[in-house]
Amino acid sequence: MINMFRRDFLLGSSALVLGQAGKSLASGDETTGLKDRAARRGMTYGCALGADQISRQPLLVKRIVQECGILVPENDLKWRVTGENPVRPDYSRGESLVRFATQHGMLLRGHTAAWYKSQPDWAVAALTSAEAVALVIERVQSVVGHFSGRIVEWDVVNEAVEPRDGLPNRLRNSPEYRYGGLEYIADCFHAARGADPKAKLYYNDYGLEYDSEDEEARRRGVLDLLSALKAANTPVDGLGIQSHLKVGNRFNAERFRRFLGDVASLGLEIRLTELDVNDERVQGDPIVRDEAVASHARAFLAAALEETAVRGVLTWGLSDSTSWLSSTVSRRDGSKPRPLPLDAMMLRKPLWTAIAESFDGAPIRN
Ligand code: G3I
Repeated sequence: MINMFRRDFLLGSSALVLGQAGKSLASGDETTGLKDRAARRGMTYGCALGADQISRQPLLVKRIVQECGILVPENDLKWRVTGENPVRPDYSRGESLVRFATQHGMLLRGHTAAWYKSQPDWAVAALTSAEAVALVIERVQSVVGHFSGRIVEWDVVNEAVEPRDGLPNRLRNSPEYRYGGLEYIADCFHAARGADPKAKLYYNDYGLEYDSEDEEARRRGVLDLLSALKAANTPVDGLGIQSHLKVGNRFNAERFRRFLGDVASLGLEIRLTELDVNDERVQGDPIVRDEAVASHARAFLAAALEETAVRGVLTWGLSDSTSWLSSTVSRRDGSKPRPLPLDAMMLRKPLWTAIAESFDGAPIRN
């Protein structure tokens, strides 16, 4: 039955398609999920989820329970979502996710307390003066404090570094960084630690993975930022590397490993927080595309998981049917991207196998 579903989905009548489906299913029995493969090495695996998916997508939910040991709200805790009312934040969607995670024995990450890109309109209007930076600090206290003891790890500040903007310290040219700079970022972390003394506090960013001048500049900017925060005794515990990968981008394992080593030597842990693989540049049938996605991820994960400071991996969704890339990528053949470990029928793809085997090949964490 399962093979038939997959065969129909891939529009495949050929033995090749059936062979691929067989291979993908044989790569792990149904009861052993990615969370188990990660746990054997002392790591965690999980994915992003939206509260509305819990009731609306039973098949997805079933697979999430099988595969994930940790969840992160894709959007539900962003300020733009919780903060429509300036005096009464709405944490109901976050509460649903806490209930779901607790019910299934999963951990929950918080995403994200302070992000320049997800602020309610009233806050954006207020953030034009230096004093208004205090608003963000209040928001950090509010959301981290509300879920204190229930969320194990927070992306406290998201995407603060943008070397191309030309600000000192390579920070992003948005009001909070213009007015508050590094001190503002440190204040966000102090506020989070005060609101939940036990949660691990992460700085999270993208564009740190590839071998390009842009990404090398961002890696330097992030390292400088983290070093400065540590030097000022800021309570930062880790770096989240988003890991939005794209087939065709140049990856240099040695250079990336050096970066991870530099981060680890600051006494920080690391997590791959939003892994997915954009296959926009790969033409061909789903089999060709899925293999290209898997082999791209394999090279990246081999380098990343070799570093024992890396504590685990989250993918940005579990199934291709819910990926944010479906609404942002337009493929020449008009088909949807295939960036995640499960296909739209909730069946395991070669990317699932690549992640599972990358966990298997990684050194054991204490
Ligand atoms: O829910 C509303 C819906 O009511 C409305 O009708 C519709 C009209 O546009 O918008 C819906 O909200 C959208 C939401 O996704 C849910 O689909 C927002 O417009 C849209 O901006 C939002 O995009 C999210 C984006 O962050 C911005 O917050 C993506 O789902 C989410 O995957 C993406 O995630 C980010 C991480 O937080 C940070 N790293 C990069 C990553 C990918 O961009």
